[in-house]
Amino acid sequence: MADKVYRASTTAPVNIAVVKYWGKRDATLNLPTNSSLSVTLAQSDLRTLTTASCSASYPTFEGDWLLLNGEPSDVSGARVQACFRELRARRAALEAADSSLAKLSTMPLHIVSENNFPTAAGLASSAAGFAALVRAIADLYELPASPSELSLIARQGSGSACRSLFGGYVAWRMGDKPDGSDSMADQVADAAHWPDMCALILVVSAAKKGVSSTSGMQQTVATSSLFQERIARVVPQNMAVMEKAIRDRDFAPFAEVTMRDSNSFHATCADTYPPIFYMNDVSRAAIRAVEQINAAAGRTVAAYTFDAGPNAVIYYLEKDTERVVGTFYHVLGGEIDGWKKDAIKGLKPTTSL
Ligand code: PMV
Repeated sequence: MADKVYRASTTAPVNIAVVKYWGKRDATLNLPTNSSLSVTLAQSDLRTLTTASCSASYPTFEGDWLLLNGEPSDVSGARVQACFRELRARRAALEAADSSLAKLSTMPLHIVSENNFPTAAGLASSAAGFAALVRAIADLYELPASPSELSLIARQGSGSACRSLFGGYVAWRMGDKPDGSDSMADQVADAAHWPDMCALILVVSAAKKGVSSTSGMQQTVATSSLFQERIARVVPQNMAVMEKAIRDRDFAPFAEVTMRDSNSFHATCADTYPPIFYMNDVSRAAIRAVEQINAAAGRTVAAYTFDAGPNAVIYYLEKDTERVVGTFYHVLGGEIDGWKKDAIKGLKPTTSL
């Protein structure tokens, strides 16, 4: 009889930081130079679906493999290996304590992962990807691990992935232990605490980003003097104001910190030598559009933020949907098709505003 195939599937949503992670103090363990905070977006539009299987069946299960959006992907990289190793070690500990458990920790792993959005286009694909990978394997192994414990593992795949193990408003505390055992995520507030928060994603370009976040961070840490100011003063202040704004459901400070922190992160990128530019002319036009929307409203109703790519994420409250999405819809000439109030809508690639 063929050997049994064990299988578990899960999905993980993307998160978009409002206080950005940018800089590693330990590149092997993915330990950050600063804490960060993000909003986990609705699963409906942006998520990774991952199935993890393992079996002793040979040759079907000959070695570990990973299929990412239908393409075979390298599993020998240090990040994937770190996640596999950590998860197998935890399963092996369960198996050592209970001899009736199947020896899944010794079997090859097959991972199939699909994103429903462009990979590596500055849309946090690695965050959803590694969060889903870690949770799928943890479910397969029936590990009794909390989301914070899993965040320690996901962090080693991609830093920002540790925040996608929680919904709502999530902080990744940088920690200070050299082994990284205190560098993990926790939930600042669940989505129900401030449910009228919305995000609009303007997909300026679905192309892969030019400078990966890992090399961008490395270059920033090595060559930007502005970066020192950011990690010592700017981010700690932004974290404190942001956590209070979320607790108080106060959109004006939430929005101001979101925009200032995005500006600060991109300024450190421009301050590297040679400089790194993630935003383009369309990104800058989106910033101007947000400023105009806020000026016309006479209060802050929209906040922009940009990750390591040109695509804009605009946060706003549901009551201001017409004002914010309506204005972008108008400016962009009707290219937002069928937007939904609590969801993220990808604009088709557009060349100018
Ligand atoms: O998780 P990484 O290594 O891809 O880094 C992500 C960095 C930013 O998206 C730019 C900021 C963040 O906090 O998500």
